Amino acid sequence: MNVQIMFKPSGRRVQVGQGTSLLQAARKAGVYIPTRCDGKAACLMCKVQISPEWAEFAGQPSDAEQRKLGPLLDEGIRLSCQARVQGDMQVTVPEDRLKAAIRRQLERQAMDDELW
Ligand code: FES
Repeated sequence: MNVQIMFKPSGRRVQVGQGTSLLQAARKAGVYIPTRCDGKAACLMCKVQISPEWAEFAGQPSDAEQRKLGPLLDEGIRLSCQARVQGDMQVTVPEDRLKAAIRRQLERQAMDDELW
């Protein structure tokens, strides 16, 4: 059975087989999620945010994911390499730190320009 995943904030959508990891789905959709361990639940770089209404469609956290994330699981954080899609859902991919810093700097400059 295929399921549809929508990645935010890009809005990209992809159809994948049930049980596919969110990391694999993101790659198929052309959505970049950083990794260093290539899906072994070791680097913690592949975190994504899943809001409560979609949480049940990301499957149960693996033992490794529970050990690595602990209380972050309660905040809707999942390791995209471990979460296995069970149904249509939406996932938020956090903004890259460097991009976020550049965006904030550009916003500050734009505000300064408006003041002068
Ligand atoms: S890819 Fe490294 S923890 Fe998921």
